[in-house]
Amino acid sequence: MDATPLLEVDGIKKAFGGVQAVDGAAFSVDEGTVTALIGPNGAGKSTVVGVIGGAIAPDEGRVSFRGEEITSLAPHRIARRGLIRTFQISREYPAMTVLENLMVSPSNQRGEKLANALFAHRSYRNQERQLAVKALDVLEDFGLYAMRDEYARNLSGGQKRLLELARSVMADPTMLILDEPMAGINPALISHIGEHILRLREAGITFLMVEHNLEVVERICDHVIVLAVGRTLAQGTMSELRANEAVVAAYLTGGIVDAGTAH
Ligand SMILES: Nc1ncnc2c1ncn2[C@@H]1O[C@H](COP(=O)(O)OP(=O)(O)O)[C@@H](O)[C@H]1O
Ligand SMILES: [Mg+2]
Repeated sequence: MDATPLLEVDGIKKAFGGVQAVDGAAFSVDEGTVTALIGPNGAGKSTVVGVIGGAIAPDEGRVSFRGEEITSLAPHRIARRGLIRTFQISREYPAMTVLENLMVSPSNQRGEKLANALFAHRSYRNQERQLAVKALDVLEDFGLYAMRDEYARNLSGGQKRLLELARSVMADPTMLILDEPMAGINPALISHIGEHILRLREAGITFLMVEHNLEVVERICDHVIVLAVGRTLAQGTMSELRANEAVVAAYLTGGIVDAGTAH
């Protein structure tokens, strides 16, 4: 395995008013892994993810991706480097079809595309055709091909979650960051989405995934990072962490076990 981690997070601090949401979090993600970021509610997981993706500027610390610093770059510039973050709340376009949702994925909305539309109709149309072929391929991979002409608003919650994943794959990411991709969906869909994540890992995509459901973490994650009160408390495999008293204590006091089994 490559000696340099794909993603490195070093000494991140972020306060909101008087709340120290992140207080020195430091960890790395190796290429080819599905790495989980777990910890009690309020531990700072979403804030860390926001900092990595460029949505939140940290007060201190740095983030490196493929050995280059990306701290505080705009989200679209981070995405262009191959690091894409999806959202806890699906952000599909409800009044567009499933196919159109893939064709307007963020990486396809650059200025060059507009220039092509205005000045080079034929090449633009060719690109659109290639994009449509790719989008249909991706929809097939995700089992959404039959829904291609359906309005996104008519999809079930689980299908919207799949659509969100499919959209992020359109950009050919090196790494995907998922914030609670299994939240609020039924067990059958949880295992379905888990299989897609493993399929994408085999295809070469690295994952960092915030996840409350420890069964999911155990089944699909290679490495686990535990965040508590804004700091990295421990990391390792799930079985290593089970033997770690500090981790067990953080769970019990933070209620993450309840959070994971409540729904
Ligand atoms: N935009 C914000 N404004 C004020 N406080 C925030 C904001 N975002 C997060 N926090 C606070 O920061 C802490 C960490 O939140 P968060 O990163 O969402 O944790 P987690 O995702 O682990 O549950 C919490 O106390 C939360 O209330
Ligand atoms: Mg969160």
